[in-house]
Amino acid sequence: MFSPVVLGALAALLPAAVQAMPASTQARAADATANPYTGYTIFKNPEYVAEVQAAVQQISDSSLASAAAGVEDVPVFFWLDQVAKVPNLTTYLAAADAEAKSSGSQQLFQIVVYDLPDRDCAAAASNGEFSISDNGQANYENYIDQIVASIKQYPDVRVVAVVEPDSMANLVTNLSVQKCADAESTYKTCVAYAIEQLATVGVYMYLDAGHAGWLGWPANLSPAAELFAQMYSTTGSSPYFRGLATNVANYNSLTTDSPDPITSGDSNYDELLYIEALSPLLVDNGFPAQFIVEQARSGVQNIRSAWGDWCNVKGAGFGLRPSTDTPSSLIDSIVWVKPGGEADGTSNSSAARYDYHCSLSDALQPAPEAGTWFQTYFEDLVSGANPAF
Ligand SMILES: *[C@@H]1O[C@H](CO)[C@@H](O)[C@H](O)[C@H]1NC(C)=O
Ligand SMILES: *[C@@H]1O[C@H](CO)[C@@H](O)[C@H](O)[C@H]1NC(C)=O
Ligand SMILES: *[C@@H]1O[C@H](CO)[C@@H](O)[C@H](O)[C@H]1NC(C)=O
Repeated sequence: MFSPVVLGALAALLPAAVQAMPASTQARAADATANPYTGYTIFKNPEYVAEVQAAVQQISDSSLASAAAGVEDVPVFFWLDQVAKVPNLTTYLAAADAEAKSSGSQQLFQIVVYDLPDRDCAAAASNGEFSISDNGQANYENYIDQIVASIKQYPDVRVVAVVEPDSMANLVTNLSVQKCADAESTYKTCVAYAIEQLATVGVYMYLDAGHAGWLGWPANLSPAAELFAQMYSTTGSSPYFRGLATNVANYNSLTTDSPDPITSGDSNYDELLYIEALSPLLVDNGFPAQFIVEQARSGVQNIRSAWGDWCNVKGAGFGLRPSTDTPSSLIDSIVWVKPGGEADGTSNSSAARYDYHCSLSDALQPAPEAGTWFQTYFEDLVSGANPAF
């Protein structure tokens, strides 16, 4: 045991943002400058486990079924894409806490914070429940407050969050879309609120940074770095705002020796090249960001007609498994953010959330609504898995 005097001396070594926290959170925060995945077991998202188990039951081919059963063991993030999902977060944190106490291994739970008002401003398939014109900012702050209250109950469970997929990337490249221009200041205010509040309960955050084929184009790197660094400094440069997440719900390879033809013209043709190009610009702007990289559906390359195609791309396979064994010290972990098998968007052109990308020739059809189970697509991901299950 450390005496209070020694603890006081240790506290003096911590960053100011950590010292300002209550003692219970400080204890959890003692290593806030280290890779949050190190030393922790990832508690699996129970909803994905249930989806995969149900999917396996529907597969008659026994070798495909046994491969599919392996997917259950891979941890994917829990998407808080509606405020109504927060009670389930509490349930899963309680289960993770119980698991930590019974097994003696420290547990980490992965969430996606994804409920901005006027969400997905440059596309249609992932429109959300809140709108800026109808109390959106207050509704969003309430959503964040509920998440914070939930996490606060389980101080021994470490939480890692991907913050608001596509939001900042849309502000870098899509301000010519009216909905994005109108959302710019609200997005920044809401994302800053999320970062500040989640930091108070020790959530390790990675703000979404698009992917190599979006912000990785040389002309987009500097504006992107400036925006991310601005979000970092305006939210108090907390050590819990650990860095950026790339390739979320996308299909890019982490590294490749043979660039996909669709990447032609972009010297940053894979995620590692993108991260290595962005990192020094972030550092120049005062943000020493670390990264996590999505590889859930990156097992097969050369399947898209254009790099911007994102919806239920045909021929995709599950990719590299989550691991802290990564090709760069900038990358904390390879992760699976997207629950592979849940649709990206519907191909029904009469549906309210229809987006044309979901009926392009490289999109598997017919496809159900975003987030709902797409059995054929799941089976294709298993068949194409690389490494295989
Ligand atoms: C909460 O979890 C239960 C069981 O896991 C599920 O049936 C329900 O749909 C979830 N609630 C929401 C709002 O997603
Ligand atoms: C958003 O920006 C990306 C990257 O520049 C571009 O490919 C896409 O077409 C834009 N979306 C819209 C709806 O303008
Ligand atoms: C497509 O969406 C429309 C509008 O929601 C619905 O009436 C129709 O049944 C859907 N078609 C299919 C094939 O699901």
